[in-house]
Amino acid sequence: MEAAMNMEEKEQKASLPFFGIPRLIPYIRKYRKTLLIMIICGLGGTGVDLVLPLLQRYALNHYVAFRTLDTLPFYIVLYVAIILFGAVVNYIATLDAWSTEVRVNRDLRSSAFDHLQKLSFSYYNQNAVGYIHSRVMSDTGRIGSLISWTLMDSVWHLSYLVGSIVIMLVINARLAGMVLLILPLLVLLFSLFQGKLIRANRQIRELNSRITGDFNEGITGAKTIKTLVIEEKMGRDFLSATGEMRQKGVHAARLRGLFALTMNLASSLALAIVLWKGGYIAESEVGTFSMFMTYAQGMMEPVRWIVDAISDVITTQVNIERLTRLLGTVPDVKDTPEVIEKYGDSFNPKKENWEPIRGDIEFKDVSFRYPDGDEYVLEHFNLKIPFGSSIAIVGETGAGKSTLVNLVCRFFEPTEGQVLIDGRDARERSQLWLHSAIGYVLQTPHLFSGTVRENLLYGNPNATEEQIWAALKLVSADTVVQWMKNGLDSDVGEGGDLLSTGEKQLISFARAILADPRILVLDEATASVDTLTEQKIQSAIETVIAGRTSLVIAHRLSTIRNADLILVVQDGKIVEQGTHLDLLKQKGYYYRLYTRQYEDEATSSVLA
Ligand SMILES: Nc1ncnc2c1ncn2[C@@H]1O[C@H](COP(=O)(O)OP(=O)(O)OP(=O)(O)O)[C@@H](O)[C@H]1O
Ligand SMILES: [Mg+2]
Repeated sequence: MEAAMNMEEKEQKASLPFFGIPRLIPYIRKYRKTLLIMIICGLGGTGVDLVLPLLQRYALNHYVAFRTLDTLPFYIVLYVAIILFGAVVNYIATLDAWSTEVRVNRDLRSSAFDHLQKLSFSYYNQNAVGYIHSRVMSDTGRIGSLISWTLMDSVWHLSYLVGSIVIMLVINARLAGMVLLILPLLVLLFSLFQGKLIRANRQIRELNSRITGDFNEGITGAKTIKTLVIEEKMGRDFLSATGEMRQKGVHAARLRGLFALTMNLASSLALAIVLWKGGYIAESEVGTFSMFMTYAQGMMEPVRWIVDAISDVITTQVNIERLTRLLGTVPDVKDTPEVIEKYGDSFNPKKENWEPIRGDIEFKDVSFRYPDGDEYVLEHFNLKIPFGSSIAIVGETGAGKSTLVNLVCRFFEPTEGQVLIDGRDARERSQLWLHSAIGYVLQTPHLFSGTVRENLLYGNPNATEEQIWAALKLVSADTVVQWMKNGLDSDVGEGGDLLSTGEKQLISFARAILADPRILVLDEATASVDTLTEQKIQSAIETVIAGRTSLVIAHRLSTIRNADLILVVQDGKIVEQGTHLDLLKQKGYYYRLYTRQYEDEATSSVLA
């Protein structure tokens, strides 16, 4: 969370007023027709607002002063027509603004979402979930309203301001000049307020994101907080943040109040000028007098609005910058245009061009460093895995086991060297081609919200009821599912959190099996199930891996005894390799590890 905050602060500092808007052009180009209609209708609406005082002027000057009603029928028709016209154009403008807002939001959100799907794992390592979430939701929202409402309002207000000034000047330049004298005063006052308001709003937003962050941590870390007994400290931190928020909120409210007050005073001042200097016209031309009153008062709202809009546009720069940066982030792992041309991309794969995959894997002089890490995890690593063979990888925590698997799956690409799949560099074919042939059960299993059945069908949408149960049976998950209240239709909760980690692992294992993959990767797939279930899964694994290439990472060595090849990895290097028996004979690291675990297990079974 800290990291996300720092990032946000940095971004706010980096942003320059009005710099971001041109970057939006590619995203709003397709709305130019709607926006043009919106602007034209908006101008029409302002036109009506400007004409009405003129009509009033005529009515007062003509009918009231001269006491005649000669042109009244025509006047009424004209008046009604203008009002109707105004209603129609304002309706269209408003409708266009609404629809633009909704469509821009939808477009930006879906392009952000699509883009996030394409980004590599490293992006998610470097950016907090809360940070990404607010890029997709709140930044897009603010941009949507900027493009629709702020634009619409600026058309309305600016054209009204300009129009009313022109009309006043044409009708009575001297009086208009006097009313306009007040404008510089207004601009001065407002610019004084504006800086303060922007600063106050920014502080409030920063505090807000800190509070949301604290809140998030309070919820997601509830257990840890309890066990560390730091509730009091967390509570204090939270209180200090909310206290500061209250202070800043009151300050901002005061500023806004003062601002409104100044506005009213200025508006009264403008009216006073009209009364004082223009009162004499009322004798001869009451209509002109009333018109001036209307315009002088009407001028205030646009001026106030412009101040607001400027601060709005300035603050939205940050949102634009952040969102365009997200959309502009190039994934670390990316298919080349030639590959996409032949194999298609995630959203329209050209399966007809996909070669069937056999499952040969080869590391050829691979050196690898994580994009944000400074040390090499693998250096000049070589390994050949013929198709159909089962490989087990053991080693200490942090040895690089999951990293090997990440490279096979092309979640990351080698910094140097190549990973070959079926004899060709993995980069020569699409990620989707490879991923659709891999079944992966993770160390940290993830299920999607929905039912057990829905989750299993992600593995193979066409699986029949029998196939589902067969897969569940294979991993000994059938009884677990039968036990659940609604069987296959039980809800698993967000991320599968209604199930235990072991249950999640079993179901994601069954899901991988349903996909019938050529390459099966089990990264600590049985770490969270009890020994008995593990034994059952063990025999299942033997069945499942027959005829497939499999990579199994396990801490409990008893589970990998039958692998064709066991690799002992230390600091990203293979220090021992061979079958279980070979390795025991070598009496090296594996031997020591195995005998120690074996003793532990023997002791615990005796004690039990
Ligand atoms: N996304 C990442 N970014 C930077 N460094 C990473 C990343 N993932 C792993 N590392 C580093 O790479 C090294 C190897 O990690 P890896 O996850 O491959 O270990 P492992 O053998 O799977 O360990 P475990 O048994 O705990 O799962 C570690 O030093 C780790 O800190
Ligand atoms: Mg690991």
